[in-house]
Amino acid sequence: MAEKLYKESKVELNPVIARHYDRIMNFISAGRYERFIRKAIGDMQINPGDHILDMGCGTGKNAALMAEYLGDTGRITGVDLSPIMEKQFLKKHEPDDRIEFRRQRVDVPFDLDKKYDRVLISFVIHGFPHEVREAILKNAHTHLKPGGKLTILDFAEFNMADMPWHHRTIFKTVECVYAFDFIERNWKAILKEFNFTRPEEKHYFLNYARLLTAIKNGN
Ligand SMILES: C[S@@+](CC[C@H](N)C(=O)[O-])C[C@H]1O[C@@H](n2cnc3c(N)ncnc32)[C@H](O)[C@@H]1O
Repeated sequence: MAEKLYKESKVELNPVIARHYDRIMNFISAGRYERFIRKAIGDMQINPGDHILDMGCGTGKNAALMAEYLGDTGRITGVDLSPIMEKQFLKKHEPDDRIEFRRQRVDVPFDLDKKYDRVLISFVIHGFPHEVREAILKNAHTHLKPGGKLTILDFAEFNMADMPWHHRTIFKTVECVYAFDFIERNWKAILKEFNFTRPEEKHYFLNYARLLTAIKNGN
């Protein structure tokens, strides 16, 4: 694996976690992850013809669930920096020519030479210093068509001090300092700053997780 750029980040996964990512998520959520992610993807209200960019796509699990809502003209581009994720993604999706993978960092400017109807960033953006999150949001904005939708599926806004001790212990063990900062920020205000409008949200997992969708303003 390439050296981690952000030492404290837990979204730059180590190879063992990357290889077993879906199984680990199911284990630490006591089997509830599958149902949660299926519900959240359903709540995205994907249209059959949507072209979707999945930034930090991981194993391709979310792409598989999104593809259930796509017709013949729908497309998904999964982008991830990890060769281990690339292998799993391609294994899942190789027979489906609506779905492609690009090995690419999303925290630096990049250009896929295409504009999308939807961008999904799922459990990625919390794991970076804030100025890096801003670069990721700019990339999302650049890749959307005017009026396209950005969806961030990630931790909600909450106060760690208000969590029951056993939830707090798990969160502090599993997550990194960047996540502790992420949950304290006003993400609707941040999206507005980055030229996204009309935010809508849905909450899951005792309100610890949120699907936040906003529309691209401008070109
Ligand atoms: C916590 S996993 C989430 C995977 C997937 N989005 C999901 O919800 O199942 C974080 C993913 O982000 C990828 N990642 C981390 N840093 C990245 C970066 N700078 N550019 C692209 N992908 C990145 C990791 O390789 C990993 O697949």
